[in-house]
Amino acid sequence: MKIIAGNWKMNGSRSALESMIHDLESVDTENKVILCVPFTMLGVKSDRVATGSQDVSAHTHGAFTGEVSAAMVADTGAKYAIVGHSERRAYHNETNDIVRAKATQALANGITPIICVGETMDEKQAGKTMEIIESGVRESIPTDASSDIIIAYEPRWAIGAGLTPTDAEIEEAHTLIANILADMGLAGTPVLYGASVKGSNAAQIMSIPNVDGVLVGGASLKSDDFIPIITSVK
Ligand code: PGA
Repeated sequence: MKIIAGNWKMNGSRSALESMIHDLESVDTENKVILCVPFTMLGVKSDRVATGSQDVSAHTHGAFTGEVSAAMVADTGAKYAIVGHSERRAYHNETNDIVRAKATQALANGITPIICVGETMDEKQAGKTMEIIESGVRESIPTDASSDIIIAYEPRWAIGAGLTPTDAEIEEAHTLIANILADMGLAGTPVLYGASVKGSNAAQIMSIPNVDGVLVGGASLKSDDFIPIITSVK
């Protein structure tokens, strides 16, 4: 069983989500399918597809205009929340400390955080990939986290760029993350790969050791693109 998570980013509509869920309901798969959608689309119900948000506030409640708390996300029936996506880290200056505070809020409200880590092109070129992954994992996970978290390794330079690391690079990153998680007492935590996943590369990527699924951006928006990813592995 693999986890196939879609990240719609700032795209779609409630009717597009309803139509996607309708299409996904007839897909024969044992894989776990999660759609992380804009806050306004949460609350669309499905027995087959779990929903998640793309962020939660680091705060519980109060005077934080425009923020949405983890409790509010949970109140819609959503079970997951992406935290620390590279676009949040890049455009909203989210640090590992902020990401950890958000993941803490998610866990406190029964939401499984999908915690994203990954290196920029500059960091990759400076030979810092493993260092950034290690600090991202160690510093973004709440200290008292149980195993109810998901990690997504997303090389930031490859997101939305049609680029992917080599299989050996993905394996090296995922093996490092699995070892760090074991060291943190979180062995068995699923680790997803994300960045430019599509129907034509999904099966190969998910055959790499320690890759427990994928986090899919652009190719999760249309069922013609997303379903082949879901059915590419048993
Ligand atoms: P992409 O995005 O699949 O469009 O590269 C992945 C992500 O940002 O989660």
